[in-house]
Amino acid sequence: MTRAAPYPLLSVRNLSKHYPLRSWWGGTASVFKAVHDVSFDIRPNETLGLVGESGSGKSTIGRAVTMLNPPTSGTVAFQGTDLARLSAREMRGMRRHIQMVFQDPYSALNPRMNAGAYVMEPLLLHDTGRSRAELRDEVAGLFERVGLDPRFARRYPHQFSGGQRQRICIARAIALKPRFIVADEPIAALDVSIQAQVVNLLQDLQDELGLSYLFISHDLRMVRYLCHRVAVLWRGRIVEMADSETLYGDPRHPYTRRLLAAVPVPDPVVERQRVSAIGLTAPPSSETGHDLTEVAPGHWVAQSAAG
Ligand SMILES: Nc1ncnc2c1ncn2[C@@H]1O[C@H](COP(=O)(O)OP(=O)(O)OP(=O)(O)O)[C@@H](O)[C@H]1O
Ligand SMILES: [Mg+2]
Repeated sequence: MTRAAPYPLLSVRNLSKHYPLRSWWGGTASVFKAVHDVSFDIRPNETLGLVGESGSGKSTIGRAVTMLNPPTSGTVAFQGTDLARLSAREMRGMRRHIQMVFQDPYSALNPRMNAGAYVMEPLLLHDTGRSRAELRDEVAGLFERVGLDPRFARRYPHQFSGGQRQRICIARAIALKPRFIVADEPIAALDVSIQAQVVNLLQDLQDELGLSYLFISHDLRMVRYLCHRVAVLWRGRIVEMADSETLYGDPRHPYTRRLLAAVPVPDPVVERQRVSAIGLTAPPSSETGHDLTEVAPGHWVAQSAAG
């Protein structure tokens, strides 16, 4: 694992996301507060894990920090630039530094586009002025980089395995040499035997390209293995955040303890239900605990459980 630099690449402050709740006749009845007052930093070369039960707001945060679905309030600063203040054109330029990898590579891929064209697409959009031959060489290099035979570039999505499809998505995500990737459950849909390979690929790419990740996952063992720091989300709030060693070795918040105490199940569907069930038994006192207290250097715990 690369050592993380001491200053933030991404700085998220007081991020909230509300979704309108429509009444059955179509009017907006009220809002649903999916994420409430979330703050964290991600440093260069760092992987921050985001864990929590299904529906706790992990994907909402992932889409908010990439501005795919901007926050209702709060700021997201990338290398000191407030993303909400960028014009559409400036944001397009910023996109090359910020990429996303999703859980289901099959639905991310375009069924009518061969794998080579899919990986080349961002290069065509951003690196204009280069010849087709140059771009084809670059795509071949990207295929090799993610462990795929460049001759597979002419194949279509249905002609790949799940793991290979995720490699194609990763090749596209790294095509523009981004600084930051949000990986939203990138291994949850994959066969257990393939999961470690994809995680190792992400780790190698981090070392090579100096990448930072927000790694969203239900798999607590994988999060411990891959992430430098971990934030635990419960009902849209961060209840605990610390470096991985501290979080797994000295969990302070009752919800974190419950999450870690349960034995993980290597089946994503069963695991999702299990983590959900744990969430239902979390103590109600934590609901107000969104003010975090630093109980030890870098170890933040929601106030209701701190001390
Ligand atoms: N577009 C939307 N409109 C309304 N509500 C939404 C929308 N997207 C998400 N939500 C709600 O916000 C909450 C958080 O959803 P989110 O997808 O962020 O959870 P998650 O932690 O990623 O869950 P999972 O582990 O199942 O992927 C959920 O209650 C969800 O129903
Ligand atoms: Mg999700």
